[in-house]
Amino acid sequence: MKKIVILISGRGSNMEAIVRAQIPGASIAAVISNKPAASGLAFARESGLVAEAIDHTAFATREAFDAALSAAIDRHAPDLVVLAGFMRVLGDDFVRRYEGRLINIHPSLLPSFPGLHTHRKAIESGAKLHGATVHFVTPTLDCGPIVAQAAVAVRPDDTEASLAARVLEQEHVIYPQAVRWFVEDRLVVEGNRVTVRDAALPDGGWIVPLAGA
Ligand code: GAR
Repeated sequence: MKKIVILISGRGSNMEAIVRAQIPGASIAAVISNKPAASGLAFARESGLVAEAIDHTAFATREAFDAALSAAIDRHAPDLVVLAGFMRVLGDDFVRRYEGRLINIHPSLLPSFPGLHTHRKAIESGAKLHGATVHFVTPTLDCGPIVAQAAVAVRPDDTEASLAARVLEQEHVIYPQAVRWFVEDRLVVEGNRVTVRDAALPDGGWIVPLAGA
C-alpha cells in the first residue's frame, strides 16, 4: 500500500477528485492545509481522513514553516506528497527532501504560463489551446518533469472564470490518473522526460486528447 499526503490551501477539488478515485493500492494518510480555514479540510474530515492545518502565518520565516510542514508530513511516512492547489512556494531544501515523490498540478500547459493568473495570461496571449499539467516538483517553480497534460480550446468568448472551469474539469481527470500511474510504479523519469510504462492510451498515455472544444 502506498501512502499519500495531500497538501491543499483552499477548496481542495483536486484533492477531492483523488480521494473519490479510490485508487487501488493507495491510502490517503493525511490532508494538510497551510490555511486553517481551507474549505477542503471539511471534505477531508467528512471523508474520515486525517486533516490538519499548519498556519503559515504563525511562522516568522519560510524555512521555519517548511520545517514544521515536513515534520507533519514525515509523521505519516508517505511514499508520495501531492500538491493540490497548495499556494505556498516551498523552499529548495523542502523540495529536495521529497524529490521524485512530490507532484503538483498547475493550471496551464507548461512550459507556458508558469506562476499565477494562468487563465488571464492564456486569454491575453491569444493562445488557442490552454490546459493543465501534472509534474514532478523540482526547485525551479513550475518546471519539473511533466507527467500528464490535458488541453482545452480557448473560446473567443472565454472569461478567466469560464476558461478556469473547463480546465479544472480536466485537472480532475489527469490528476487522479497521474497519481494512479505513480502508485502503480509506472512512471519512468529520464532527465526532464517522463514516460508511462505499459500505457494503455495512445501517445504513451501521458497526453489526454483535446477536450471541451
Ligand atoms: C487548481 O486550478 C490548481 O491547478 C491551481 O489551483 C487550483 C486549486 O483548486 N494550482 C495552482 O495554481 C498552483 N500554482 P482546488 O483547490 O479546487 O484543487
